[in-house]
Amino acid sequence: MTDPSKPDAMREHWERTAEQYEAEGDAFTRQFAEEAWRLADLAKGAKILDVATGVGALLLPALRAEAEAHAIDFSSAMVARARRRAAEIDPAAAYRVTQMDGQALTFAQGSFDAAFSIFGVMLFPDPDAGLAEMAHVLRPGGLAIVGAWQSAAGAGPALLFQDAIATLFPDLEFGSPLAGRPPFNTPERMDAAFARAGLAPQAVHHVTRPWATPEADWPRKNAALAFGWSPAWQALGEADRDRVIEAVEARLRTGVQIEATALIGIARKGSSRRNWIGSARA
Ligand SMILES: C[S@@+](CC[C@H](N)C(=O)[O-])C[C@H]1O[C@@H](n2cnc3c(N)ncnc32)[C@H](O)[C@@H]1O
Repeated sequence: MTDPSKPDAMREHWERTAEQYEAEGDAFTRQFAEEAWRLADLAKGAKILDVATGVGALLLPALRAEAEAHAIDFSSAMVARARRRAAEIDPAAAYRVTQMDGQALTFAQGSFDAAFSIFGVMLFPDPDAGLAEMAHVLRPGGLAIVGAWQSAAGAGPALLFQDAIATLFPDLEFGSPLAGRPPFNTPERMDAAFARAGLAPQAVHHVTRPWATPEADWPRKNAALAFGWSPAWQALGEADRDRVIEAVEARLRTGVQIEATALIGIARKGSSRRNWIGSARA
């Protein structure tokens, strides 16, 4: 059994599911990324970083808006996909997508006008370290924009799997990769996380978008993507997983409509020397 609290297990999860993520996950998350891009309201030509880009949910709208967009992800499979998609918009942009741990960015201090992380930094083993890195690479006055699910159990199909497991196996311990970490799922928590990184909170927006109800065989084909990271799922044997999948399929047949709410928080790096030093890592 893999332990999702270990970074290597998490990376393996994203390496394994990158293809499915591009096919099935990206259309859902990019709705939030596009809104985050709009809310940041950056000037054309802004130099931005997308931390934990996945297959480029934020990177692609930024490139289409003619930003000088850079992106990182720790999964080589995600990076390969984000590069290919970036190159379709601007061949040179592919070279600005690199494999890197968001908790140890290698860009110089003050490199970017804005740093985004959409459903990325919230998953890091140490989200505070991820935010501190974003603060470090921002120029004074630059913006940090973070997207996080309102529910600690994730969003969209993950909630269907969670409900099914809770009903079928009420005694099963429910773990989440977000458990025990400083969450960003209320405006107060988001603001406090920004403040710990030395950033001045500006606004937190609640953004709700639909998860398009999929084909009937979606849960069976995509269980690993939707819920494979969950300790509860990993604790189940094949036969019990089958029961969960059947329960999710039955729920979808009722025509259930699913939507998800994310918090999009925006903070600014201070331009005074005091804030500048305060927000930098040691
Ligand atoms: C839920 S996906 C979000 C991807 C994209 N931002 C989006 O909104 O579709 C989470 C991404 O975080 C990446 N990730 C997780 N931990 C990371 C870390 N420590 N450093 C860099 N990337 C990480 C994963 O590889 C995955 O691509």
